[in-house]
Amino acid sequence: MRITAPVRRLDVGDLTACLDLGADRGWPREEHKWRLLFAVGQVNGIDDPEGGLAAVVVGAPYGTAVTAISMMLVARKHERTGLGKRVLAHTLAQTGTESALLTATPMGKPLYESVGFRTIGRCSTYSGTPTGVRAAGISRPYTDTDAAAVSIVDTEVFGAARKELTAALPGFASALRVVDAPGGITGFGAAWPNIDQTVLGPVTAEDAEDGLGLLSDLAATAPGEVRLDIDHRQPRVLAWAEAHGLQHRFTTAIMVLGPDIPGDPARSFTPVMLALG
Ligand SMILES: CC(C)(COP(=O)(O)OP(=O)(O)OC[C@H]1O[C@@H](n2cnc3c(N)ncnc32)[C@H](O)[C@@H]1OP(=O)(O)O)[C@@H](O)C(=O)NCCC(=O)NCCS
Repeated sequence: MRITAPVRRLDVGDLTACLDLGADRGWPREEHKWRLLFAVGQVNGIDDPEGGLAAVVVGAPYGTAVTAISMMLVARKHERTGLGKRVLAHTLAQTGTESALLTATPMGKPLYESVGFRTIGRCSTYSGTPTGVRAAGISRPYTDTDAAAVSIVDTEVFGAARKELTAALPGFASALRVVDAPGGITGFGAAWPNIDQTVLGPVTAEDAEDGLGLLSDLAATAPGEVRLDIDHRQPRVLAWAEAHGLQHRFTTAIMVLGPDIPGDPARSFTPVMLALG
């Protein structure tokens, strides 16, 4: 059956249907993460006339510069009927930013290539219960008065202003820490709960010493298992994960559509999450 239903902007009332569609593809029910995506992004989907959703994708626009694309899902029974491309093209047209960014599983990559995305790097996900972590003591807890400085650092490092995301971070994170320097804040790091793991990200810092120090400060108080998504341009973070007993789980391709995204990847030690960059 070919589905002709239009693409529809979803809202948080569609959250369960999104989780069900993810489960159809073996994805965990990451409710806390989806709630953030509904808050900062456009969630678009196509209804399945037989009930539930046939396709979904999230586009989080950062001003007019960059859209972060994520959660690209098509129900198994409807794959290769053009729904993925249709909902993705609609979302890119709606957000209308100069560039778009995503990380692709091997299954998603051909679809993204078919609409013009190119691979610019790789990202590996590590998780496990960290061993031998000691707080570095280079950071302090975030307070509301740090909001503007965190947003400025994030904009410089990511390469586009992510005001809604940085504003949502204090409520979303289970820990949020900043690094002070004589001229003001130079780095910040968050940890957030995802089902039975704590994700360490974003971690943004002036140099590797501060970046790894922030990771240690966050990991030292994270309960149970942690997860890190590590851009291969950060070999010292890959080494940190391996040195602390975390295991490699999977690798995704970092892909961009449109002009390269400015910013300073050398100061980005981990992203918020694969979904948001
Ligand atoms: C990836 C996914 C979203 C693709 O959705 P889809 O609706 O099946 O894709 P479409 O039918 O729109 O495909 C459009 C084009 O993408 C490419 N493509 C899509 N799936 C492909 C596959 N499995 N192998 C090779 N090419 C593929 C083809 O060029 C295709 O055009 P064609 O069918 O005319 O050859 C779907 O397979 C899925 O949900 N997979 C599981 C979740 C996942 O991995 N998501 C990606 C996360 S990054």
